[in-house]
Amino acid sequence: MVWHHYKEFVKGLLKMAYTQDELKQQVAKAAVEYVKEGIIGVGTGSTANYFIEELAKVKHKIDGAVASSEVTAQRLRGHGIEVFDLNNIDGMDIYVDGADEITEHMHMLKGGGGALTREKIVAAVAKTFICICDESKYVPVLGKFPLPVEVLPMARSQVARALVKMGGQPVLRDFTTDNGNIILDVHNLKIDDPVKMEADINQIVGVVTNGLFAARPANILLLATADGVKTFKK
Ligand code: A5P
Repeated sequence: MVWHHYKEFVKGLLKMAYTQDELKQQVAKAAVEYVKEGIIGVGTGSTANYFIEELAKVKHKIDGAVASSEVTAQRLRGHGIEVFDLNNIDGMDIYVDGADEITEHMHMLKGGGGALTREKIVAAVAKTFICICDESKYVPVLGKFPLPVEVLPMARSQVARALVKMGGQPVLRDFTTDNGNIILDVHNLKIDDPVKMEADINQIVGVVTNGLFAARPANILLLATADGVKTFKK
């Protein structure tokens, strides 16, 4: 009995020992197991950066990568991984990226790093979207994290007014996207139906895209928890 309690105590200490960065590293290592050959789609953000480090270790297996942002392209090249133009390839098996929030339905909210449009385009081409997250990103409902919306600069006010009508509070981010556009971060949206909201926001004239990834959800979620990396499939 005493031994059992001791073991539980040590297990508890080990659980507490992981930092968020260590969890991101663990999930990046788990994702690289899915890398077999060909061209890999690579996302943007701190978790994706850990994935790039792991991908570099197996770069002999692949032909190269497609990047979802200029930052990711630079990192890939820095590791000696060839970066392909999406227009020059027919398709890819996997796209690996993080998320700001994800639900049990594999709907995601993304774009904290401002790369949402290119992320969505590369994800659309990939057969399998592998989302890599630490457990802080796993939520019952999307929307606690403000929803990023990429907007053509001249449409800023018109789009902001439309988003207010939808119940949100748009805030202009001090940032220019890789596509030369602005980002409105929309607070306090009630995202009960992510598929509908994704479509509704994309219908506003001047919107390039929004950070809801629901019409095309993740296929595999690798979630780093204190008990190890858990795998969910859709
Ligand atoms: C980038 O635009 C985002 O979609 C990222 O995928 C998201 O912000 C997750 O980033 P972290 O891995 O840094 O949390």
